[in-house]
Amino acid sequence: MQSLRREKHVILPSLLQCDFGNLQREIEQLEAAGVRGLHLDVMDGHFVPNLSYGMPIVAGVRKLTSLPIDVHLMLSEPSKYVRQFAEAGADNLTIHAEVSEDVGATLELIRSAGTGVGLAINPDTALSSIEQILPLCDLLLIMSVNAGFGGQAFNPVALDKLKAAQRGFPELLLEVDGGVNLTTIAKCQQAGASLFVVGSAIFGQSNYRTALEQLNAALS
Ligand code: DX5
Ligand code: ZN
Repeated sequence: MQSLRREKHVILPSLLQCDFGNLQREIEQLEAAGVRGLHLDVMDGHFVPNLSYGMPIVAGVRKLTSLPIDVHLMLSEPSKYVRQFAEAGADNLTIHAEVSEDVGATLELIRSAGTGVGLAINPDTALSSIEQILPLCDLLLIMSVNAGFGGQAFNPVALDKLKAAQRGFPELLLEVDGGVNLTTIAKCQQAGASLFVVGSAIFGQSNYRTALEQLNAALS
């Protein structure tokens, strides 16, 4: 993920809606379309009302690509699994600020596991509530939907938070996730995001290269 720091903007496909029966082909197609990193959404059916996949899929993706793997942990107790996701090959681990365990301690655990350290906030969570622990992070993920499902509509509350985060924490990588598409991506960039997680706007298209080209064209 550190390699992505040097880039002005990076689109990270969220694999949630990819064809898991053809993971190798999906990743080959994304690489051929020029993607610079992948976003993997891990859901436990408890922190969010949806269940996705865990360490074996991260390890499987790791075997298929050398692209940076950005893992978004939507788990009630992420601290239990940090080491296993790091060993599975994650380059960055992002946890949610809304969990009830000690978030600062889990961020430190991620640091000691050797991956990038990310913190995510849902639309209802104020930036002010995490200011104290942001110095522990490399990356701030501002959710523009409530975490849990692909295909939701973009919530513009994320734009104000991105602007405030850029002003207050210019050293952080700012990532946005949820409803990012041809209509919303440029606004996210103008608000300060440099990492753009995109699910439906890529996997809902038959040609990933065209989808990526159009999204990149919308960015300056
Ligand atoms: C939602 C996930 C997202 C999701 C994005 O909880 O974190 O990464 O896959 O999908 P779209 O782009 O369809 O909103
Ligand atoms: Zn995500």
